[in-house]
Parts: sequence; C-alpha cells; structure tokens
Amino acid sequence: MAGLALAQRRPGLLNSRAMHPDATPTIPSLLHAQRLHCRAGSAEVPIHLLRYDLQRYDPAAFAQAGVAYPPAMDRCVPKRQAEYLFGRVAARRALADVGWPDAQVGTGSQREPLWPEKIVGAITHTDTYAAATAVRAGRFRGIGIDIEAALAPEAMASTEHYALNAGEREVLRAQAALAYPLALAIAFSAKESIYKALFPTVGRYFGFEAVRIDAIDAIDAEQGTLHFTVMEDLCPDWRAGHRDHAHFTLLDPRTILTSYGW
Ligand SMILES: CC(C)(COP(=O)(O)OP(=O)(O)OC[C@H]1O[C@@H](n2cnc3c(N)ncnc32)[C@H](O)[C@@H]1OP(=O)(O)O)[C@@H](O)C(=O)NCCC(=O)NCCS
Repeated sequence: MAGLALAQRRPGLLNSRAMHPDATPTIPSLLHAQRLHCRAGSAEVPIHLLRYDLQRYDPAAFAQAGVAYPPAMDRCVPKRQAEYLFGRVAARRALADVGWPDAQVGTGSQREPLWPEKIVGAITHTDTYAAATAVRAGRFRGIGIDIEAALAPEAMASTEHYALNAGEREVLRAQAALAYPLALAIAFSAKESIYKALFPTVGRYFGFEAVRIDAIDAIDAEQGTLHFTVMEDLCPDWRAGHRDHAHFTLLDPRTILTSYGW
C-alpha cells in the first residue's frame, strides 16, 4: 500500500487522497480497508479500497461479511470467488455511506452490477485489491473505476495490440514520467473505467477502438490525467468526437487505479 501511505503523507495529492482507515476488518483474509477520494470528472468520489490475502480466502467469508453467495459461484475457482466477495464487501461499505447499509448488489445479464434505485457505482478487483464506489444518481450519470497491475512482459504484446492503436502506443512511449508497462496498464485500465461508466447508458458492449487515448498528463509518476476522444456514435449522449478525461493514481509501484465519472 505504498501509494496509499504516500497519499496520506501528501495532503496536496490531486487525484486521490486518503480519508481514514476503515473499521477493523472482520474477515480473516481481509488485510486492510481504507476509504479514499478519487477524481472522477470534475468532482471527487469516495472509493472503498480493500487489500486481501487470496491464500487465506475461505468461502465462509461470504456469511461473515453478509454478502449473498450466488449459486453460480460453486462453479468458480477460489480466485474468482474471492474477487467477487471482496468487490461486494467494498460495494456494501460504499452503499452504507449513501444510506443503503444492507443492500446486496446483484449481477445483470452482461455482468454489470445492479445497484439500488438512484445509486450509481462501480466495482473492480484484482487478486490483491478490491474497490467500489457508490454515489447518489443526481451527482453522476455514470462512474467507472478499475484497478490494474503492470502487465507481465508476455501479456504486453497482445494487450497493446487489441486495446490500443499505433497512435495511442506512441502517446504512451512518449511518456517520460511513466515506464511503458505502467503507462500501458493505465491506458488499458482507463478504457475499462470508461466502459463501466458508459455501459448503463449505452446498454451494449463496445470495444477498445470506441475510445482513443489522446494524451496522458502525468503530474508525477503517481498520478495524472488521461485525455480521450470517443471515436464512434455510441448513443445519443455519446457521439463520435466527444472529448473528456479520466484520472489515474498509483496504489503501489506496480498497481494503478483509474477513475472516470460523467
Ligand atoms: C467488463 C470489464 C470492463 C471488466 O473489467 P475487468 O478488468 O475484467 O475486471 P474488474 O475487476 O476491473 O471489474 C470487474 C467488475 O466490473 C463490473 N462489470 C462487469 N461488466 C460490467 C458492465 N457491463 N458494466 C459495468 N460494470 C461491469 C462487475 O462489477 C465486475 O465484477 P463482478 O463480476 O465481481 O461483479 C471487462 O471484462 C470487459 O468486458 N472489457 C471489454 C469492454 C471494454 O473495456 N471496452 C473498452 C471501451 S473503451
């Protein structure tokens, strides 16, 4: 959690600032829980960030955490079960902040999380971190957050070719403040954040070519802004040529969190 510790030391941190450590973890495999504020559009959103130990995951944690266990989880490997669990634990904490302390977040037909009425939110997880945000619908129409680890060398070639075009790869290579594997993770993650934020409005799958990363403004190696352009008409609110920006924050030297809201 080096990045989070850093956020606490630096009150001026723009994209993300730690608020306070959360309540004492009650699930054995939950190592740390924290509430941050991250930039999403021109506002900030609270994000519940958890760090957990996959090796210590036990299905009994669903009951301990008050998270409904979907029958489909029986067919999933422990890693997927743990990711789902901790994503929902983070979501329950985020929902409690906006007046829904006992709500369960279901899953829609295209895997989208189903939030209570008039709530907008997003979930993300890796095998180490899980995070969620939830806000009242009047503040945002859509929010997306995504956590990504720097890509292993063997995953880089395929990711950079299916998620980015040649011009976008040049934008990343021109980044002096960020190592290329981290810049690639940031660009990939930002597109996933944008997808999560737009999906409830667009209502269908759209691929990585639908959004072009134009520039990355790294404030330093730990935080910054990505400028993007929508490349195709996605729906009446999202036409080709629309421009906006997302944000990134380093959670630890190998892991970034991106956030986008509109
Ligand atoms: C949906 C997707 C973005 C999820 O990203 P991921 O890296 O696999 O996983 P993350 O841990 O960050 O996020 C997973 C969570 O995203 C949420 N999610 C999944 N599908 C979603 C959707 N259609 N809309 C909004 N949120 C969604 C879910 O809560 C999921 O967790 P859960 O299954 O435990 O509930 C990704 O799998 C995908 O399909 N990407 C292709 C589409 C895309 O990104 N296009 C780029 C447009 S520019």
